[in-house]
Amino acid sequence: MAIFTVIIGVVLGLCLLSTFLLRWNEMKYKKKGLPPGTMGWPLFGETTDFLKQGPSFMKNQRARYGSVFKSHILGCPTIVSMDPELNRFILMNEGKGILPGYPQSMLDILGKSNIAAVHGSAHKNMRGALLSLVSPSVIRDQILSKIDEFMRSHLLNWNNQIIDIQEKTKEMALLSSLRQISGTESSLLSKEFMREFFNLVVGTLSLPINLPNTNYHRGLQARKNIVRMLEELIDERRRSQETHKDMLGLLMSGVENRYKLSDEEMIDQIITILYSGYETVSTTSMMAVKYLHDHPRVLEELRKEHLGIRERKMAEDPLDWNDYKSMKFTRAVIFETSRLATIVNGVLRKTTKEMELNGFVIPEGWRIYVYTREINYDPCLYPDPYTFNPWRWLDRSLETQNYFFLFGGGTRQCPGKELGIAEISTFLHYFVTKYRWEEVGGDKLMKFPRVEAPNGLHIRVSDMHK
Ligand code: HEM
Repeated sequence: MAIFTVIIGVVLGLCLLSTFLLRWNEMKYKKKGLPPGTMGWPLFGETTDFLKQGPSFMKNQRARYGSVFKSHILGCPTIVSMDPELNRFILMNEGKGILPGYPQSMLDILGKSNIAAVHGSAHKNMRGALLSLVSPSVIRDQILSKIDEFMRSHLLNWNNQIIDIQEKTKEMALLSSLRQISGTESSLLSKEFMREFFNLVVGTLSLPINLPNTNYHRGLQARKNIVRMLEELIDERRRSQETHKDMLGLLMSGVENRYKLSDEEMIDQIITILYSGYETVSTTSMMAVKYLHDHPRVLEELRKEHLGIRERKMAEDPLDWNDYKSMKFTRAVIFETSRLATIVNGVLRKTTKEMELNGFVIPEGWRIYVYTREINYDPCLYPDPYTFNPWRWLDRSLETQNYFFLFGGGTRQCPGKELGIAEISTFLHYFVTKYRWEEVGGDKLMKFPRVEAPNGLHIRVSDMHK
């Protein structure tokens, strides 16, 4: 009986303490004009619910509070916007009290000149310099042949193998970019670079606690090593005075490039290119392989497009700009993959002053999560939204509608969109014209917070022509 009373006492005590803590945290953030919502526990907020329940947490909060609500996630008081109109407004109106709001660990590791860390004229300059490296004419004249050469060798000898397509597409995204950045030296650099780069990526997604053995510490260390490798590369090129037709060559040539960057800025630009295209391109490629496997009719149509291109060429001929431009169905497959898998859930911004949005008052220093995931499943935009149906994208107006946020929007819309599509298209070209594949089975796929196969996605590959 006494034990029973003690247990009841402890449970009641815990309930009271929890209620007190939750109430106290709500009061701490109480301010007139803020959107409705809950702030969760002191310090941790609602991060656990957000990470555990993912999209359903967002949908539940929206059902309760509307499409703009407050929360406390990932260490910050946050306004979540699931309102397409407001999302568009935020993306289009950077500067007027709104700036990128990416986590500190990411900014520290990607460098202070990285594009997400700069704004105003510095952003214009870094963005201009980047756009000049990945413009359609540079893709056509310089990059496409490098991608082609890389993909051919990357996809060699997959026949009769069990391949972890997640691992292969990650290597592909990084090494293909490295080839575009430093054509001739990339194969010498690639092994050491890859090890450091993977540590850098993990570091950007960690808590910024700089203690030995933390991911953040390893990420900072990886950044140092990558910076050293790139500095050596730049010094070597200056000494040799050879000209190079690659991204680093363009960045270093003051004549052709009107955006003159310092060495530090060039290095941060290179890290940005590698980082921004890495997870987006690799995950979209992996998920395209998954969806194609599950939808034989789509695979058949895609293969038809690529075999048609091959028929017009000799086996050793690389893909050229006209081939790439003719890949209408491939482009549709890439958009549909990006939409259905939601490769990017949204983007982060922060307020630099108190401001009004949709009639709510947003305090200075709050993060805004421009959450675009649900737009991907809006039946008005995408009838039968949970079906993998690339044909819907053959109507090109879908790519130009106001709520097309697969590549962001406004002043920070992805400058690497066409480059990313060219890489994935070239990968798919060689993959579907050379191979058939089936899934080994039993692999899990996580959809949130990132699309990921925790233990890899294994496929058994065989030669198409045997
Ligand atoms: C399928 C592939 C890709 C997807 C889905 C994608 C998606 C996105 C999205 C959603 C944003 C907006 C971020 C924001 O507003 O904060 C963005 C920005 C960016 N992307 Fe991509 N991206 C892809 C490929 C690439 C590639 C290959 C590059 C390499 C050049 C790249 C470079 C960038 C950069 C530098 C930014 C920041 C732009 C700025 O802040 O002005 N992306 N991307």
